[in-house]
Amino acid sequence: MTTLVIGARGNVGRAVVEQLLALSEDVRASVRRIRGNEFPAQVEVVRADLSEPDSLSAALRGVQRVFLYAPEPNQVAGVIRVLEKADPERVVQLSSGSVLLESAAGNSIAEEHRAVEDAFAAASLPWAPIRPLVLATNDLHWDTRHPIRLVRPQARTAPIHEHDIAAVAVTALTTTKATDGILTGNELLSQEERVAIIADVLGRPLQVEELTEGDARKAFQHSSQIEAILDFLRTAADGGSPATGVVEEVLGRKPLSYRQWVEDHRNDFA
Ligand SMILES: NC(=O)c1ccc[n+]([C@@H]2O[C@H](COP(=O)([O-])OP(=O)(O)OC[C@H]3O[C@@H](n4cnc5c(N)ncnc54)[C@H](OP(=O)(O)O)[C@@H]3O)[C@@H](O)[C@H]2O)c1
Repeated sequence: MTTLVIGARGNVGRAVVEQLLALSEDVRASVRRIRGNEFPAQVEVVRADLSEPDSLSAALRGVQRVFLYAPEPNQVAGVIRVLEKADPERVVQLSSGSVLLESAAGNSIAEEHRAVEDAFAAASLPWAPIRPLVLATNDLHWDTRHPIRLVRPQARTAPIHEHDIAAVAVTALTTTKATDGILTGNELLSQEERVAIIADVLGRPLQVEELTEGDARKAFQHSSQIEAILDFLRTAADGGSPATGVVEEVLGRKPLSYRQWVEDHRNDFA
């Protein structure tokens, strides 16, 4: 049985490939642009773009299971059409826990993921969404060479390691277990506490500079997601961002800790 991992170069996609290989599953990896030798030799690498249904159709030939990222809302209908034609046994789609979080209703990130989910739910596909709430990899955007600029440094969330998201996705691909709750890490940590853990693991002091929402709007005016992110931070500062037990229910073990995640990414921080 072959699994196509669409977005196999992404943080989560790459971990899905690794974990399927560890189970001796056949894996086809798709990327938008093929580079040389970035996957183990037993992985078949193909080119596919969610915005180009023909490329997707070719990548799906002979495949029984599919992992994919959320397509852009304007790509969803085309992606679903091609998937329905390919008729796989399982489609696992990376979505967002914000879809299930009442306080996120109306937030543009949550609503985009909801629109994609609604389209998949209405299709004739054996579909399972995977819903992480806050990815630990967001923190790789922090430039540790300078004071780290944070809106609401005390805002607490429970970021999840990409390996745990992938482990839940692989469970959804290879079993019939329910995997659709909000996925989080095991501990609520403020942004400041996370900076302190990074400093401890890197072995050098790090500074934090607090930004107002107005500062952030100016600094990130190019980002279409800034209002949604400010919204999430406001909720988190008010204690509205949960740590759930879903990863443990699905995997039968505690989620990996934030410290573990930092140790795994020690060399990725600027
Ligand atoms: N940030 C959060 O806290 C958060 C919370 C909940 C959910 N999420 C979800 O998690 C995702 C990020 O996961 P990640 O860290 O693993 O992302 P990532 O490392 O940035 O990887 C994204 C992958 O998506 C692929 N991709 C993008 N557009 C594509 C297209 N048109 N066709 C085919 N592949 C395409 C990219 O492929 P190439 O490498 O080939 O370009 C890349 O491999 C977000 O997009 C969001 O949906 C994020």
